[in-house]
Amino acid sequence: MPLIAPSLLSANYLNLEADCKMLNESEADWFHLDVMDGNFVPNISFGPMLVECFRKATTKTCDVHLMIESPGLYAEAFKKAGADILTVHFEACPHLHRNIQQIKDLGMQAGVAVNPHTPVEGLKDVLADIDLVCLMSVNPGFGGQSFIPHTLHKLKQLREMIDERSLQVKIEIDGGVTLENARTIVDAGADVLVAGNTVFRSSNPKSTIAALKKI
Ligand code: DX5
Ligand code: ZN
Repeated sequence: MPLIAPSLLSANYLNLEADCKMLNESEADWFHLDVMDGNFVPNISFGPMLVECFRKATTKTCDVHLMIESPGLYAEAFKKAGADILTVHFEACPHLHRNIQQIKDLGMQAGVAVNPHTPVEGLKDVLADIDLVCLMSVNPGFGGQSFIPHTLHKLKQLREMIDERSLQVKIEIDGGVTLENARTIVDAGADVLVAGNTVFRSSNPKSTIAALKKI
């Protein structure tokens, strides 16, 4: 069974408390929190202040996806805000190994996200040091985009890279996950499904989460 990580990017910002309550009562495993800086990606979302609010609103794992430049400058702030997992982008980190060590030294789980054009082979030399790979299946910046089919090849390749070394790294797929494609994605080797629009635009988000879980 995959872990389900609804993305609060698609939540109702006028009533976040209700959406947090719904997720707490649902079978969702993680809160996926998308931080965007308007520089690394062409959109701005929220920062540590709102992550701290989500932290207070749930006991579920807070999975913070940083789509920002220079994430090392903010790792401590996100630790203080209550992040359990902190994911940085491969493309934003010329000193990726240092960023990973910093996240672990702060006591969080470390994730690395890769954009659709970034080959997964580049992760080989950090794979043993991290807890999560976030494979972007859309170009980061916005919810509600369509799944890029080529991601499935990268997913299978990454699954092999992890399994042949018996590593415990989880693979998370982020972007365009639907009730229609979730089975194929899980069969190709995903451990965690992020879902924004599929959950929050559905008429019954809780049952949609349950359906994704059972897929
Ligand atoms: C995109 C974000 C995603 C996004 C997913 O940049 O990283 O987490 O919220 O949204 P959906 O599931 O609607 O594609
Ligand atoms: Zn995300």
